[in-house]
Amino acid sequence: MRVLGISAHFHDSAAALVEDGVVVAAAQEERFSRVKHDASFPRCAVAFCLGRAGGAPDAVVYYEKPLLKFERVLSTAFAVAPAGFKAFTTAMPAWLRQKLWVPREIETELRAAGCDVRGRVRFCGHHEAHAASAFFPSPFERAAVLTIDGVGEWSTATWGRGLGAALRLEAELRFPHSLGLLYSAFTYHCGFRVNSGEYKLMGLAPYGEPRYRELILGKLLDLRDDGSFRLNPVYFDTLKGQRMTGERFSRLFGGPPRAPDGAITQRECDLARSIQEVTEEIVLRMARHVHRATGERNLCLAGGVALNCVANGRLLREGPFERIWVQPAAGDAGGALGAALAYYHGAAGGARSADGARDAMSGAFLGPDHDDETAAAALAARGVPAERLGGPDEVARRVAERVAGGAVVGVVQGRAEYGPRALGARSILADPRSPDMQALLNRRIKFRESFRPFAPVVLAERASEYFDLPCASPYMLFTAPVAAGRRGASAAGSTLSERLRAVRSDIPAVTHVDGSARVQTVDRRENPFLHRVLSEFDRLTGCPVLINTSFNVRGEPPVCHPREAIEGFLATGMDVLVLGSYVVEKSALPPGLARPRPVDAFSAD
Ligand SMILES: [Fe+2]
Repeated sequence: MRVLGISAHFHDSAAALVEDGVVVAAAQEERFSRVKHDASFPRCAVAFCLGRAGGAPDAVVYYEKPLLKFERVLSTAFAVAPAGFKAFTTAMPAWLRQKLWVPREIETELRAAGCDVRGRVRFCGHHEAHAASAFFPSPFERAAVLTIDGVGEWSTATWGRGLGAALRLEAELRFPHSLGLLYSAFTYHCGFRVNSGEYKLMGLAPYGEPRYRELILGKLLDLRDDGSFRLNPVYFDTLKGQRMTGERFSRLFGGPPRAPDGAITQRECDLARSIQEVTEEIVLRMARHVHRATGERNLCLAGGVALNCVANGRLLREGPFERIWVQPAAGDAGGALGAALAYYHGAAGGARSADGARDAMSGAFLGPDHDDETAAAALAARGVPAERLGGPDEVARRVAERVAGGAVVGVVQGRAEYGPRALGARSILADPRSPDMQALLNRRIKFRESFRPFAPVVLAERASEYFDLPCASPYMLFTAPVAAGRRGASAAGSTLSERLRAVRSDIPAVTHVDGSARVQTVDRRENPFLHRVLSEFDRLTGCPVLINTSFNVRGEPPVCHPREAIEGFLATGMDVLVLGSYVVEKSALPPGLARPRPVDAFSAD
C-alpha cells in the first residue's frame, strides 16, 4: 500500500510518501523551487517522492477538504458583508480557478509525472491531517493529541486520542476563534510577515515586559478554564480585509503597526512578550483540560502553534503530561505526511506498531540527498577548488577542528530535513563559546536582525550538563533554561543592543537574554554525522555543544542542492563549506570568486 500525501495552495506546500506505513520520503516545495514558503502545487516535491517510490501510488490524499473550506470563506464573507467585499473579490478568482478543482489538478499533475491516479484522489480534514502527523509517527502506543493552528476548514484547534492504529478527534475550537490567528495578528502588528515571522516575535519576547498581558486577556478574548476562548471581533480585521488588525487594535496597543523596515522599539518587545505569555497560558490550559478528559500520560502536538518551542518547553516543565512528542513539520507542510498516514491507518486499515522509545521520522531526514559526484560537478561548474577527504570520520574531524579554530562552517550531508528546522543535514555550525559569534553570524552570514538568537546542538548523553531539559529534543522544538552553573551575570542594560551584548553564560552565542536556549539533542543512531562532529569538538575543546543554524541567507529558503550551498557560501562571510566528502576553504578561492553581499543590499525579510 503506497500513499502519497499533498499539501498545497496556502503556504508551505509539500509532498510525503508512505509505503506500508513507513515514511519513505517527505519534502517541501520551497527547497526545490527556491521560492520561500512556496504555496504552489508541489510538483518537484511530488516528483522527488515518486522517485523514491517502488511504483505508482494506490492513493493520493490532499491535506484538507476544499469544499468545506470554501463554505467557511463564503459564510464569513456573508456574515460581515458588505465590509468584507474587497477581501472576498480578491480571494474568489483563486478559488474558482484552482482551489475548488484540486482533484482534477492532482490527476493532471500526476499524469504529467507518469502516474494515472484517476479515481484514487482522497481528502483528509486539515486538523485530522495535523493530528495524524502528530500521533502516528510518535513513539507512543497510546496518547492524547492536541492540534493548534491558524485555521483549516473550520477548526482552529482540536483534541482527541490515539490508540494503536486508531485516532479519534473529540472536540474542536472553530473559526474565527483561533490562537494561531491571534498570534499572527500580533506578528503583523509588530511589523513581521504573517505565516513566517511568528518565530521572530517569539525570539523578541524575552526583551520585553508583559505589560499588555491583562489588556489582551481582558479585551481581546474571553478565555475559559479548558483553554477554549472567544475572540472579540471588533479588534480584528481578518474577517473583513487583508489586514489583520484595525484602528481599535491600534488604539488599544498604543499605535499603528510597525512598518516592516521601521526600528524595533520597546513597544514591539512588550507586545511580543505579552502575546507569548497569553499563548503559553492558553496552551497550558488546553493541555490540562485534554489531560483531565483523556487520562493519558503522553501528549502529541502538531499545527503551526506547536512550533512555538517556548510554549512547548513550559508544557514540558509545568504541564500535566509525562512525555510530549511534537511533529517536526508541525506546520502545514506536515499536513502532507499527516494526510497520507491518516488514510493508511484509517480507510486502508493499515496496522501500526510503536515501541515507546523511537519515533518513525528517521530524524526528519526525509528529503533529497546528493552524492559526491553531484557535489563534484557543482563545484567544477562554479570553478570552486575543493579537497576530497577520506570519509565521514575525516570530514567530521575537519569540521570540528575548523569550528574550534573560530571558523563558520556550512554543511551539506545526507538527506535534507523535512520541516522548518535545520538539524545537521543543511546547517551552519559555529562555536557557541564565543561572545561575538551571535552578532557575527547575524551580520556576516544570515544578514538578519541582531536580536535573533541561535540554537545549540548538544550530544544527547551530555545535554543535562548544559540544559535543564527533562527529555530528548531531537527536533529543536523545546526551549530549556541553560543550567544555572553555566549562567553568568544577568543580561544587564536598558536598550535592546546593550542586553544583546551582555555575556549570559559560558555558551553565550546560544543563550537567549532570558537564559534559555532552543535545544537540539543529538543521538548517535539517528544523527551519526553530527554526533561525530560534536564528539570531536568535545575532544578538542571540552565542550559538546555547537551553534546550529539553518544553511540559508536572508530571503531564501534553506539550501537543498550542493549548487545552492555553493552560492550561499560565496555570497556570505562563511569560512568553510563541506559538501559530502568535499571541503572548500574560503581563503583558498581564486580572487574575485567570493562576493559577500553588503548588508545594506538586503531588503526586509
Ligand atoms: Fe494548519
